[in-house]
Parts: sequence; C-alpha cells; structure tokens
Amino acid sequence: MNHFELRGGELHCEDTPLAKIAEAVGTPVYVYSSATLERHYQVLRDALAAEGVKDPLIAFAVKANSNVAVIATLARLGAGADVVSEGEIRRALAAGVPPERIVFSGVGKTEAEVAFALKAGVAEINVESEPELDLVNRVAQDLGVRAEIAIRVNPDVEAGGHAKISTGKADNKFGVSFSEAERLYAKASNLAGVRPVGVACHIGSQITDLAPMEAAFAKMRGLVERLKGEGLGVERLDLGGGLGVPYFNQPEPPAPADYAAMIARVTKGLDVALAFEPGRVIAANAGVLLARVTHVHQRAEGRRFLVLDAAMNDLLRPAMYDAYHDIRPVKPRAGEAVTYDVVGPVCETGDTFTRDRALPPLQAGDLVAFMTAGAYGAAMASEYNSRLLVPEVLVKGAEFAVVRPRPTYEDMLARERPAPWL
Ligand code: LLP
Repeated sequence: MNHFELRGGELHCEDTPLAKIAEAVGTPVYVYSSATLERHYQVLRDALAAEGVKDPLIAFAVKANSNVAVIATLARLGAGADVVSEGEIRRALAAGVPPERIVFSGVGKTEAEVAFALKAGVAEINVESEPELDLVNRVAQDLGVRAEIAIRVNPDVEAGGHAKISTGKADNKFGVSFSEAERLYAKASNLAGVRPVGVACHIGSQITDLAPMEAAFAKMRGLVERLKGEGLGVERLDLGGGLGVPYFNQPEPPAPADYAAMIARVTKGLDVALAFEPGRVIAANAGVLLARVTHVHQRAEGRRFLVLDAAMNDLLRPAMYDAYHDIRPVKPRAGEAVTYDVVGPVCETGDTFTRDRALPPLQAGDLVAFMTAGAYGAAMASEYNSRLLVPEVLVKGAEFAVVRPRPTYEDMLARERPAPWL
C-alpha cells in the first residue's frame, strides 16, 4: 500500500497535490511519502514481531535511497542502516542512526573506509573475503580496538530476478563459500583485532519467490549449527534484503507476513539475534519521479514519442535493467488510451523508458509520475549530458520539504577546476 492516489482527478502524495510540488520545485523531481516509508518499515517490523522474532535489527539498505531525510524518517522508528561505503556511513550518522545499528557490507572496503567505520563505532563489519578479514584485523589492531565482524557467505542459490542484481550465486563476486566460511570463522576467532559475532548473506534483489530465500537461509542455519558445534560463538545471523515489490508486470511479491513466517520457521530454536537489510521493499513504493511532457512527437509514419524532461540520468533502471515503471498522468485527461514510446532528452537510444505504452492522452506541459521509483531512483542518478542532479522532496501530509535542492549550473561548474596548462 502507498499514499499516492487520485483525489478530485489529481494525483496526490498524501495530502499534497503533486502538481503543487512541480510548480514550486520544477521537474524532474523525486517525491517521497513519509507515511509510506513509515508504513513499510512498520509492516515488516510488526510481521516479524508477530512471528516471535525478538528485537531484530532492521537495517535499511541505504543504497536504495540515500537521502538523509529519508534515512532519518526510518531512524526515528528505530531502523538501523546497512551501508557499503564511507559516504553511506556518513549519511546514516547524519540521519541520526546510532552507530550500534549500522552494518557495513561490501566486497571492496578500503583501508580508509574500515578505519573510518571502526572509529565511528559501527556495530558490525560484514567481511566478504580472506584478504578483507586480514585488513580489518590489521586496521583494528592499529586503532587499538577489536572489530565485531560477521562472515558474509555466498549461499550459491539462484534467486531469480535480473542477472545484474543477483548476488547469491557462486559465480557472483559476493561473500565466501560455506567451507571457506567455517575456516575463516575459526581463523577470525584467533585474531587479536577481530571478534567474529555472526554470519551474513544477501542473495539478490527484487526476489518474488520465498523458496530460494528459504533454501539459502536453511543453509545459513546449517552453518550456524556447525560453527556452534565446533564451539565457536555465533550471536548474530544477518539475512540481508532482497524482498521484491510489485512493478505491475512482475509476479506478485511475497506478503511480509509470509516472509516473516518463513524466517520464523527456518530460524526456530537457533538462538541468534537476527538482522535484515531491506531496501527496495521499504522505499520503492514510497517514491515517484515527477516529470513534465516536453513534446509529443508523432512521426508522419510510425511511432509516437512522448518526450519528457526526465531522462535515463534521473531514473536509470529502465535503461540498465529493462525495468518496468508504471507511468501515471498527474491529471489524467478523458479519452481513449494512446500508445507512446516514452523517452528522455539524453542523446542515446538507451534513454527510452518504455515502448508502446498505452497511456491516457497526454499533451506538452502535462505532468506524469513514474511510480515505484523511491528505491534505486535518485540514488543512481547522475549528471550525464550535464543535466543537473535531480532534486528530492519529502512529503508529510499536506506539508512538503525540498530535501535535496536542484543544484544550479553555477554549482555544477564550480566543482571543476581548469588544469594549470590550459
Ligand atoms: N544488502 C546488501 C548487501 C545488498 O547488496 C543489497 C542490495 C541490499 C541489502 C538491499 O537489497 P533490496 O532489499 O533493496 O533488494 N540497483 C538495482 C538493485 C541493486 C541491489 C543491490 N544490493 C535495481 O535498481 O534494481
């Protein structure tokens, strides 16, 4: 459920008309609903609680939506943060996430990033390889601390979804194998700079079937039991993110209650604290990308192009993953549906959001909203074609705040310097 709906023939975000935001901030612009973010977090938290999962750490995957106001909205409800870079740690801290609720993942953490994380006091570093274990051990000793780490395991499970976002197959770059995990866990327990506290996995994203998740988590359970059997302490099990959302052309994603029931089933009696790293399921349907129609270009013979002022640099998912986003006119006109190729102004054919999409009739100047764009939308935006970085707005009821303003062209140019020989 989300809080974007037609009221009086006009698409609103909560009690705010989207047209009002477009008027005030211009387009393109991302618009997020506080109530939807909060609801998605609470539904997941309550579903886990209903299944008796005690005090899980729900660490919002900051990569999905890294706006500080969005993270802060969730942090106020008790959410932690799953981060993959120093930048994301800084964002989580700036949003008020306590360091003891921050989990640091990622295959290529640098020495500087590990040091930053340890100084900040993050809860856990999810170690993804042996060289990384050695790095964390060394940096922690240099700093005179003992780093709490989890070993990230690659469960070698095919989770479905797009190949570019699968992470849990043996040939993906993430994590270590089960046998390696046991060896590394034992090794870590003998190192002075680290304390192994648990194991972690994350098998992919936009997963719409619980079966591969359950298979992976059952393997993780086996690992926890084997480690405990060897007399090694295992206090935490991090099961990652990955829950899919409805993009309108995909299999219906699992209900949070079914996900929670599966988690309870697979971890029953294990006696470890559970952590989750949801991103998309919390943020995707809490955001839209609002754009304006620049032209309707009807070729004399052939295709009809709906040219928008938003482009692939603002919303990369269709170009990168052939992703489907529902497109809704903000003030739908009466009349028969018309078939459009919806495109942006960037100079490559990849800048096509969709082809042959039947939409209510649209005219130049009309506003449209790309739905389900709150996750991996603004976070993946760029300035390609020297287009200004897309701004972000957070709505709460009838109020809205610009939580990332649109930069000016002066801002954009001021970041660069002439080379001395030019
Ligand atoms: N934890 C780890 C270690 C991850 O790598 C990811 C996402 C998550 C949690 C959150 O997964 P989620 O709950 O959002 O599925 N840009 C792509 C998605 C990439 C996901 C990368 N990892 C897209 O737009 O579909």
